[in-house]
Amino acid sequence: MRWAVLVGGRGSNLAALLAAGIDVRLVVSHRAGVGALDVARSAAVPARVLEPAGFADRAAYDRTLAEILASAGVDGVVLAGFLRILGPTVVDAYPGRLLNVHPSLLPAFPGLHAPRQALAAGVRVTGATVHFVDHGMDTGPIIAQAPVPVWPDDTEATLTARIQSVEHRLLPLVVRLVERGEVAWVDGRVHLSPAAAATLSWWWSKSEED
Ligand code: GAR
Repeated sequence: MRWAVLVGGRGSNLAALLAAGIDVRLVVSHRAGVGALDVARSAAVPARVLEPAGFADRAAYDRTLAEILASAGVDGVVLAGFLRILGPTVVDAYPGRLLNVHPSLLPAFPGLHAPRQALAAGVRVTGATVHFVDHGMDTGPIIAQAPVPVWPDDTEATLTARIQSVEHRLLPLVVRLVERGEVAWVDGRVHLSPAAAATLSWWWSKSEED
């Protein structure tokens, strides 16, 4: 499958997808000057900056984004640090092929600054989630999650780094499962094939060894 990756941050998840050999044809950032654009450039992946300023409203932004994605001919889209809610123009164009990675165990701590929210709440475990994108904010059906401990001396930076190192393994794994048709979104629920369930349980046993 040919993928677009929508970004807005450092680009560490984009780098992980590229390192895993995922066929990324296009990167779109909602912010200029971010590290993710450098990651795209050094991998020779075409990159566009699409900042919200200059668009009359969210729908106009989404229409342009949908056109850019369609003209790149991608089959699926990954949100990796793209901190905007997408409207139906984009979401409905990629049913079961639009994924988001989020730095918490959803439904806990949706939205911005999830590691900061986890520290403020005083939880001892947080984690990473990869889910299908629906019309809400971080509400789509969950495909895979992995826990991450919160240590007493954690700062937002140390916790974020620990979560992201898990994201970098989980996200490419899920993208591969979607490519192989091993994960489907049917009637609002995620169905894992036996192979996908085995892969994810392999991932669990592997992560326990780390
Ligand atoms: C990632 O940790 C991702 O989970 C988070 O942004 C970070 C981007 O980092 N996304 C969200 O918070 C979405 N609500 P990266 O640019 O280094 O991949």
